[in-house]
Amino acid sequence: MNFLGTVDVRQIARSLSGSLAQDQQFCPKDFDVDHDTGFFPPEPLPKLPSAFSIWEDALVEAQETLSLGEDETDEAKAKRPAGEQWRAKVQSWPVLDTAILRGNIRQLQKAHLVLAFILHFYVHSISLNGSQDAIHIPKPISIPIVAVSKELGTAPVMTFADTVLWNWELIHPDQPLSADNIRYVNLFSGTEAERAFYSSSGAVELKGVEMLQVIESFHAMPNVTDRACVAKIARDLARLERIVDDLTKIFATIRDTVDPEGFYWHCRPWWCGSGKAASSTPQWIYDGVSPSDTQDLAGPSAGQSSVMHALDIFLDIDHKLTQKRAPAPSESNKKADTGFMDRMRRYMPGKHREYLAYLVASPRTVRDVAQAHPSLKEPYNAVVAALKHLRDVHIRIVTLYVVSMSHRQPPPHIVRREGCSDEEARGTGGMKASNLLKAGRDATTRAMLKE
Ligand code: HEM
Repeated sequence: MNFLGTVDVRQIARSLSGSLAQDQQFCPKDFDVDHDTGFFPPEPLPKLPSAFSIWEDALVEAQETLSLGEDETDEAKAKRPAGEQWRAKVQSWPVLDTAILRGNIRQLQKAHLVLAFILHFYVHSISLNGSQDAIHIPKPISIPIVAVSKELGTAPVMTFADTVLWNWELIHPDQPLSADNIRYVNLFSGTEAERAFYSSSGAVELKGVEMLQVIESFHAMPNVTDRACVAKIARDLARLERIVDDLTKIFATIRDTVDPEGFYWHCRPWWCGSGKAASSTPQWIYDGVSPSDTQDLAGPSAGQSSVMHALDIFLDIDHKLTQKRAPAPSESNKKADTGFMDRMRRYMPGKHREYLAYLVASPRTVRDVAQAHPSLKEPYNAVVAALKHLRDVHIRIVTLYVVSMSHRQPPPHIVRREGCSDEEARGTGGMKASNLLKAGRDATTRAMLKE
């Protein structure tokens, strides 16, 4: 039995709709969501059993010896022979059977993380000469990563969970997990920009734990009509507004901690997944695996952050433009990739996707409740306004870190790879990132309740 397999979110939503959401006790643990750490596991992931030490050793070695294939500095070029040896060693590995990990979610997560790092190190340490239209992923990587991804119900490629949710240790092991007590462990570039980017994303996830408590408390309410319940919802919405403001402050600190050039030229290329058919980057072919198991290879994006999806679902933000709301979508809103957020859910751990499906299936939304109670309109609209502001700040960050960097010449020692290093960001299906993000911001505004 896998943890979710390839079940469609809508299918789960349909099967959960109505009765279950109303009648059964909502237990976040069933969705691998912890009361104190949210979508993070409650403790750092354990080491893998010794049978898998070749993977863990190779990951340590990769971080010491590999350089980005498009990096032409003398230092990077000096590392090329070691990189070739590392890749040859990976190709010669036996294909390890992951059956003994089955049922152990923490070990499966660790295996996914280690294999995803190895996969991206393998591909992006290759110096391409422009003639390759495909890169073969050798069986010792492709077969186990597909197997553990199926168990976890996630994509067989690096995901947000690998970089942010699972990739940490406690600075002070005797103290609980917090934004000040987390250290990111595995890095591609080894740069502070990369570590700080993971830390900022992690801080958003940790703040999100408080958000989940508000959401869960709303879903646990026996009814939403009596005065005490309405007053509690008003208080919780005010709390949620403060939490979203805090998230915005975390986003704003990114400018102080993450250097845009380091981010764009030295970190981002490592995260790139397999190009779309239309892209000029080589496709990744997973040897020994059915192509139907390798449909989702876009790579990580913070768009896969489950807390941000939970917030959108709770507030009933209509990214797909299926509701008739004002103001009507602009032409560029309509052209944006309205399926992006749904697609990103396929890269989340299956249990977390299931949690979101549960929220989607809830028979009542806070927006409908606020619509029905005049005293809740203002606090509801205040949260939506705070989220719209957060998205504005995020758009400014993306402009600085991706859009404007893509218009600049690369540093002299970096070779620009088309398809991954322009503003048509990963995962957006060729649609410009800024269009997508503005459409999300406008969909947020459209949730506002009118007088
Ligand atoms: C240097 C900092 C950041 C940059 C350059 C950046 C870049 C981007 C880009 C280019 C997209 C478009 C989709 C894609 O191609 O993946 C995106 C989407 C998104 N990012 Fe970020 N991001 C940053 C930080 C964060 C952080 C810290 C979070 C919080 C977890 C976050 C959450 C999201 C979400 C939820 C989306 C989906 C669209 C939306 O909800 O508006 N981002 N980001």
